[in-house]
Amino acid sequence: MRCRYGRFIENGSAYEITDPATPAPWVNVISNGRYGLVVSQNGGGFSWLDHCQLNVLTRWNMDLVRDEQGRFIYIADLDSEDVWSVSPQPCRADVSGFRAVHRPGSTTFEAERGGVRATWKLAVPPGEHAEVWRLTLENTCGDTKRLRIGSYLEWCCGTAPDVNREFHKLFFTTHHDEVRHAVLAEKNLWEAPFGTPDDHWNRPWPYTAGFAAVGFRGERLVTSDKVSFLGRYADRARPSGMTGDRPASRFGRFGDAVAALGGDIELGAGETRELGFVLAIGDDKESLEGTIDRLGTVESIREAADASERDWSERLSRSGVATDREDFNALNNTWLAYQAISARLWGRTGYYQQSGAFGYRDQLQDSQVWLAREPERCRAQILHHAAHQFSNGKVYHWWNPLTETGNPTDCRDDFLWLPLITASYIKETADRSILDETVPFADEGEATLLEHCLRSIRQSFTRFSDRGLPLIGGCDWNDGLSALGNETSGESVWLALFLRVILRDWTSLAAELGLDEDAADFAARGEALVRVVNDVAWDGAWYRRATDVDGHWLGSASSLAGRIFLNAQTWAILGESAPAERRSAAWASVKEHLLTDYGPLLLAPAYTEPDAKIGYITRYAPGARENGGVYMHAATWALAAAAKMRDRDAVERIWASVSPPVRCEDAEAYWAEPYALPGNVDGPLSDLPGRAGWTWYTGSAAWLNKVSMDWLIGMRADWDGLRIDPCSPASLGRVTAHRQWRGRTVRLRFNAAEFVDGDSLSVALDGEALKDNVLTEAELERRGLTVGATVELEASWGGASRVVEPKSAAAVATAEDAQGRAK
Ligand code: GLC
Repeated sequence: MRCRYGRFIENGSAYEITDPATPAPWVNVISNGRYGLVVSQNGGGFSWLDHCQLNVLTRWNMDLVRDEQGRFIYIADLDSEDVWSVSPQPCRADVSGFRAVHRPGSTTFEAERGGVRATWKLAVPPGEHAEVWRLTLENTCGDTKRLRIGSYLEWCCGTAPDVNREFHKLFFTTHHDEVRHAVLAEKNLWEAPFGTPDDHWNRPWPYTAGFAAVGFRGERLVTSDKVSFLGRYADRARPSGMTGDRPASRFGRFGDAVAALGGDIELGAGETRELGFVLAIGDDKESLEGTIDRLGTVESIREAADASERDWSERLSRSGVATDREDFNALNNTWLAYQAISARLWGRTGYYQQSGAFGYRDQLQDSQVWLAREPERCRAQILHHAAHQFSNGKVYHWWNPLTETGNPTDCRDDFLWLPLITASYIKETADRSILDETVPFADEGEATLLEHCLRSIRQSFTRFSDRGLPLIGGCDWNDGLSALGNETSGESVWLALFLRVILRDWTSLAAELGLDEDAADFAARGEALVRVVNDVAWDGAWYRRATDVDGHWLGSASSLAGRIFLNAQTWAILGESAPAERRSAAWASVKEHLLTDYGPLLLAPAYTEPDAKIGYITRYAPGARENGGVYMHAATWALAAAAKMRDRDAVERIWASVSPPVRCEDAEAYWAEPYALPGNVDGPLSDLPGRAGWTWYTGSAAWLNKVSMDWLIGMRADWDGLRIDPCSPASLGRVTAHRQWRGRTVRLRFNAAEFVDGDSLSVALDGEALKDNVLTEAELERRGLTVGATVELEASWGGASRVVEPKSAAAVATAEDAQGRAK
């Protein structure tokens, strides 16, 4: 976990960067569900409400090499005229004691220069449409300091990026709120595409934004005009308004709308001063003023920043681990779930990609991060997605909140994620009432969620090839296979394997719900899929992936590029579609051709020439993203498959190869953040194999957390209960893990070093063996472990179960109650 740019601190729950010259920006994505911000270790980044492309507060243009646009705090020494910034950008001054600390819910910069130590914390308080900045200044020298403090941001107020600035600046109005020491900004144009006649640039941005300074008592700095603060042709590194006369205060309709706020202060020797800023957005001026008034004191900013951190630590603490591997602990206790919730589900953005939209398959998969924590939030996400399905069962590939517009493509897997994740939710919670919820369709009518799911499944039956493989249509999980299919040809083997998993779940559910005809139909179709995949798609040593419209195979030993694809092997193993000897052969092929020291490749070898009959995957540079790189989302399924194969060496190897803290020990090769999963890592044909990118906005975070807890720790919700079945790398050593299950906290202990393969696992609940190693609600009730209780499990191999020590007070009390009743 050693890295030359920083380290994990606070038990892995925070990351401290001490050298900002990281190979790529190392960012934090902080969202409270509606308001969000991204901030890099340089100080780059942007802020938004509800949609990071359609409703953006501050200007930012993607340039990860310069990383120079963001929101900043300058400090000028009025005697020496030295100007610096608390974050490295924009001044890049020599400072001492630099730290940027990213935590769930906050980022803090610290730096010292010229006898002034500055600490700047940015946070997004829960429930507020605002971010708060807490600024602490300390005079560390013997003389009084005369300082000018100036904060700076550029208004975007609408769709991003705002490249045609000369056009956009004509629609702003800014105001000076003298009482609140604030700049307010309105814009009477909004380009968001609603798909209605008034769309044609004839709609106002329906919010008011405001930026307020807090705690400045002396001469104030306040302007909303870019040139009056920066000066003509000035560098952001040295705004003219920071030295000499304070800049002219200009507001109204005729400037280039920014906000620069602060003032001149004197800081006596040894004195510390707390100041602050609030950046907020309101539906109207009154609600904006209310937010600023609520947050606009140094005390309330401090409380709001604390609340942001507290909110996250409570949320994240519901599931976690203590093992001998610090990387495993840090990722599974804090960072994976934080990434999945803050960046994927709420912010829907990263630094390499700004989306703002909901992907049909994407956020449904992400919502599984709630299952072991707050399953009712997964429930809500499922119903939200169901409302974006059409009455024929098809769905939007993605849709925008705010405008409710989207892209109804023809990818033949999208709609199937609804029944898959619904089944996953029911296995977790046993809450079948979700199936009775009435949800509208995106076009017309409404139906129960059960009917929505059935329409998805039945929609999947409508397009099959003559020999019985599903057609791929616009694409399947792999968006880049965008040209393989049309209405009548182009088949997907992965889709067959995926559908088979869904049909197996829904055969049980349909039978249980008395839908006998569906149950029989699903069972028969599932078996047919297994048959056809094994009849036509087995290549000798692995499963082929797909056919193109001319019937040519992808993923065959005879293919020049794309000879073997990962997902066709992992899903054949995970879904048990492969007979035992093929499962072993396919897994051996994965190990031989796809596992590397920097993760499992999505396919090999990469395509080196564009192929119009395959799709845009072949247009990426070879080794980039889906084209033969490590696609982290799919890599997590390889980790699950390794556990399913009981291949502990491979589990250990894959974990270490994808773990960012491990990879970042060689940060020059890895590039990306050690605390966030990347979307992809360059493959062998890249000039930089092993280089990670596209961090934060990737569906791999929720999955790696799920695979870690379900398969490696082995607490997996299934139809019959919570199955205990660890397959941990030996390096985890002594393990204690906990998660929520049916209203209880379930804690599991075992020693991974004692793991023995085979049938020798036994699991004890309060010292008494658990039948079939499956925890059931009936068993919990029988023992008086009711909702709210902590359940203590111990797993061991090859011997008698040991008594669990120590027990929580609640568990002891309820267990004693149960014993009392039993007498
Ligand atoms: C992107 C898409 C996701 C897709 C994956 C593989 O991450 O958002 O939906 O499955 O690429 O192509």
